[in-house]
Amino acid sequence: MKVAVIGAGTMGSGIAQICAMAGHVVGVVDSDPSKGDAALASMRTSLEKLAAKDRLGGQSPEDVLGRVGTGTSIAAACEGVDVVIETVVERLDVKHDVFREVIASAPSDALLGTNTSQLSITRIASVLGDQGSRLVGMHFFNPPVLMRLVELVVGLQTSAEALSRAEAFAQGLGKETVVCRKDSPGFMTSRVSAIVRLECLKMVEEGVGTPADIDKALRLGLNFPMGPLELGDFNGLDTYLHALEALEVAHGERFRPTVTLRNLVAAGRLGRKTGWGIYRYGADGTKVDGHGA
Ligand code: NAI
Repeated sequence: MKVAVIGAGTMGSGIAQICAMAGHVVGVVDSDPSKGDAALASMRTSLEKLAAKDRLGGQSPEDVLGRVGTGTSIAAACEGVDVVIETVVERLDVKHDVFREVIASAPSDALLGTNTSQLSITRIASVLGDQGSRLVGMHFFNPPVLMRLVELVVGLQTSAEALSRAEAFAQGLGKETVVCRKDSPGFMTSRVSAIVRLECLKMVEEGVGTPADIDKALRLGLNFPMGPLELGDFNGLDTYLHALEALEVAHGERFRPTVTLRNLVAAGRLGRKTGWGIYRYGADGTKVDGHGA
């Protein structure tokens, strides 16, 4: 199949990689011309690691990369495609602009997916008119190459046919799927993840434990692969704050962001990307302050 991935950031490059690994021909588009090369470099690093572990099914990294093209034109990437996956920044206005262009250039039977982690599929589809029936939430997880789930989300307009095509497509990438049958903010996963992290932040504020002990308790005692506070730093505390604000509007006070979180974001302590969030990080991204503040 021919696939267009719109947005070549953290998620777009990983999603493009797994599509190419599954044999699809992939066009990756980003409005920032430097992102295409960066995405190819990150795919190459990941593919070389997979090849070294014999996990590329006999393909070489070059075979996989040979199926990936990059560019800045949505219209060019969408020509003759079977599937479009939008993975641009988490802003409704930007996603609307992208889908206006997609709908003008992709074939009228192309399946449309959005990787939003919490925005309403119904609202994203509002610019598509009656073509909104083709849009399905296809929520991949970070890093897409390793994470096994795709959470499919049905908007009010999504057709049963689009959902079953999205299910088959995701499963063809080797992923498990679940279906979030109501277009409810935070879906099933982001909603739970947000509340768990919030409870951990509240425990830090109450002095119940240090951030490091809270993370360790959830890792070792509850089998979380990563502590919720570490995960907040990994994904960006600003992103987390925006998610909580949207969830509070939708689901009420229990999602209200804590004062500490607001202060950390106001101070520019956004997590790994700024070198300091709950924990401090060195230039190479490794944690240098194991206790957290
Ligand atoms: P990112 O910031 O790494 O990448 C977004 C990319 O979109 C950037 O490269 C940017 O230049 C590009 N872009 C912005 N406007 C564009 C436009 N008009 N046309 C083409 N490209 C444009 O963001 P990330 O983390 O990859 O997130 C992308 C989407 O995936 C968001 O909707 C986010 O909520 C969702 N998501 C993110 C996860 C994460 O852990 N980072 C996990 C699951 C979903």
